[in-house]
Amino acid sequence: MKVFIGSDHAGVSLKSLLKKHFATTCDFEDAGTFTEESVDYPDFAHQVADSVLKHDGSVGILICGTGNGMAITANKHSGIRAALCWSPDIAALAKQHNNANIIVLPARFITPETAFETVEAFFNAEFEGGRHQRRIDKINI
Ligand code: RB5
Repeated sequence: MKVFIGSDHAGVSLKSLLKKHFATTCDFEDAGTFTEESVDYPDFAHQVADSVLKHDGSVGILICGTGNGMAITANKHSGIRAALCWSPDIAALAKQHNNANIIVLPARFITPETAFETVEAFFNAEFEGGRHQRRIDKINI
């Protein structure tokens, strides 16, 4: 699975752990950041959102301190559905009901183990379509 991943300085450590944890199942393309030097989350959210839109079937992972900055930014892109997730159940529903194409993690409020389980649940879930597709069709303005 092609996965575009990006974080700011608050998420850089969790990003490394996720890349190691899913190394055998995911083909990661890392937009950065690569150090703990302070950076601006929109620079990475825009890169990952653009890449997901350009590559059919790919997904994105974005990580910042709360997840909110990344989610707010990525969701400015038409066609991106970025879901802030902090538990496996929420992640599964983000795919099943919202057909999210980017999962956003709050690095300062989630343990690495829960983050692994949350991303795994997102990867394993399938969009249910039907009434959920009808609702998604009403999102764009
Ligand atoms: C960085 O300090 C922090 O503001 C950022 O990671 C994120 O939480 C913003 O939404």
